[in-house]
Amino acid sequence: MAHPLKLGVLISGSGSNLQAIIDNIEKGALEASIRIVISNNPDAFGVTRAQKHGLPAAVLKHEDFNTREDYDAELIRLLRSKEVDLVVLAGFMRLLTPVFLKAFPQKIINIHPALLPSFPGIHGPKDACEYGVKFSGCTVHFVDEGIDTGPIIIQSVVPVFSNDTTETLAARILKEEHRIYSQAIQFFAEGKVALFGRKVQIKNIEETPVIALHNPSLAGF
Ligand code: GRF
Repeated sequence: MAHPLKLGVLISGSGSNLQAIIDNIEKGALEASIRIVISNNPDAFGVTRAQKHGLPAAVLKHEDFNTREDYDAELIRLLRSKEVDLVVLAGFMRLLTPVFLKAFPQKIINIHPALLPSFPGIHGPKDACEYGVKFSGCTVHFVDEGIDTGPIIIQSVVPVFSNDTTETLAARILKEEHRIYSQAIQFFAEGKVALFGRKVQIKNIEETPVIALHNPSLAGF
């Protein structure tokens, strides 16, 4: 790995996506290195995960800053000090200001637990369950000024079963998050991600061979 992609990972909670990224890097499957983990929540378990793996971790509490812009300026300073190539939001529950977006143009990605543009916001699995969709999933996308509106990089689809609860669906989705987030980051590491307007193209990649999914299954049609 000559020049692994340098990541800054922003978290607020459990950090299971962070853990999946760490594990894939340690396995040698993901050609990246985590230069810093930053949490806005001092109690985030993700901070402990980072420390366990010897990764630099910082906590930035919102109450220590007067404005959102001041907060984001410190985020930018920390990430730049580590020469981060890609900012990875992994359950980071805070809106970023335009100052931050401008500091890392086309270099900030997020994972969302729904098939965007359906069910943006903080209750993806709950909203999908309540709506009654037959499929949901997760989406890795670029971050823009909107809430979960940026160009889509990769999605994974999971079925929603009639006896699903928010929790069972969220768990099924989370397993897929752990797979597609590392895949998306690896696309960046390989220089395969190209953005045309709001469309993302992954260069030299086979697209899915699946023609259609049905839930419930078709019976003879
Ligand atoms: C994930 O469901 C992610 O999609 C959402 O927040 C959750 C974070 O989980 N944005 P974790 O902290 O990575 O375990």
